[in-house]
Amino acid sequence: MSKYQGTVHPEWTNWASRIAIRPVEKDDLPGLEWNGELIHFRRLFASIFHSMKKGKAIMWAAELEGAGIIGQLFVQFNSARVELADGSTRAYIYGFRIQPEYRGFGLGTRMLVVVEKDLLQRGFRRVTLNVAQENIDAIRLYERLGYRVVALEPGRWSYEDHRGRVQKVNEPSWRMEKILISPGTG
Ligand SMILES: CC(C)(COP(=O)(O)OP(=O)(O)OC[C@H]1O[C@@H](n2cnc3c(N)ncnc32)[C@H](O)[C@@H]1OP(=O)(O)O)[C@@H](O)C(=O)NCCC(=O)NCCS
Repeated sequence: MSKYQGTVHPEWTNWASRIAIRPVEKDDLPGLEWNGELIHFRRLFASIFHSMKKGKAIMWAAELEGAGIIGQLFVQFNSARVELADGSTRAYIYGFRIQPEYRGFGLGTRMLVVVEKDLLQRGFRRVTLNVAQENIDAIRLYERLGYRVVALEPGRWSYEDHRGRVQKVNEPSWRMEKILISPGTG
């Protein structure tokens, strides 16, 4: 359980008002690498940005004035796997992370609220995501926000790192899904 659950941490009030949750711009791409911690995703970030320019995805950033991008979350509108994203009714969230020192203060929840509202405005009615089975804290967060486990996902995928080497990921996961409800209809 989060140590701050159910309380407002005093530090939160100091920085919460200085956060902007907004789509990523080209100049933000280096800032998504978090001082090298996520450098291995450089090509992946560039490719998602390219998809965004074609209207197939959106990359979200939480920017803290003076500190840079402290949160990121990507949404794919289309996928070859229509159970994840079908381009019109179902969209897929991934790459969701907040920098460690800012976790547990409600920022992740705030990002999801913004993203879900944006998806509703785009006409989407369902949102999906995959979460590692061992990530019980994140699963609890998603359940609290109305996501439900709908399938088992092998969680095997690969990407090309910044040096052009293929990196394989093997992370048994749950697929979770939420039905989005417009305000006033729920
Ligand atoms: C999951 C994550 C994006 C949530 O962002 P956040 O700002 O910490 O979220 P909130 O403060 O709104 O909510 C906190 C909830 O997330 C849970 N959580 C998950 N991982 C956490 C972490 N490493 N630190 C603190 N809280 C975490 C807390 O337990 C809490 O749930 P609870 O309220 O039911 O106790 C963030 O914790 C994170 O980056 N975790 C590591 C990466 C990750 O697991 N991403 C999800 C991949 S599917």
